[in-house]
Amino acid sequence: MKNIAVFVSGNGTNLAAIIESISKGRLKADLRLVVSDKKDAFALRRAEKASVKSVFLDPKKYISRLTYEKALVALLAEEKIDLVVLAGFMRILSGFFVKKYKNRIVNIHPALLPSFKGAHAIKDAFTYGVKVTGVTVHLVDEKIDHGPVVLQEALVIDDKWSLKDLEERIHRIEHRIYVEAIKLLLGKKYSIKGRKVVFISR
Ligand code: GRF
Repeated sequence: MKNIAVFVSGNGTNLAAIIESISKGRLKADLRLVVSDKKDAFALRRAEKASVKSVFLDPKKYISRLTYEKALVALLAEEKIDLVVLAGFMRILSGFFVKKYKNRIVNIHPALLPSFKGAHAIKDAFTYGVKVTGVTVHLVDEKIDHGPVVLQEALVIDDKWSLKDLEERIHRIEHRIYVEAIKLLLGKKYSIKGRKVVFISR
């Protein structure tokens, strides 16, 4: 069984979907660790409730991004983590961290990258008036919302939807395809060719 860690900063609905999939046997993974950079992240409560080891790592206690990331790496090494899952983690990870876990960090973004990068993707897509948006799961590289795409799912926007309607539908897709993507990354060998994640079936 492979070990995963989930990094969070907020509500943690994606974390909840991962926890549920593991407990129902739909995702074969050992969730060893949840790390938050925010003390009051509701995601931490969810982890505690599920009896998952959870750590609040306060960035203010570290003199630099590098020392903070070294502490993260130490936690991950302790738990022998195979895959780092970012689920609403609002800190940018530097080249140091990304190199340590090269192609073993995955992120979810609530738009069809490369459209609508950044922290307000759902609202940005809604306000722009696009007819189609969606969800992207991608590996993490040194640039923000940029690494190779693992999975994407499109969603046609109904003119009658409010922003809240769109948010709900996007999150529903997220919770389903994030688990699917993690399953793929843990279950199959893959390599990166150019910008493509190529899965080798076995
Ligand atoms: C999700 O919309 C995800 O795509 C984005 O941050 C949000 C996290 O939500 N990166 P939650 O904390 O998992 O509920």
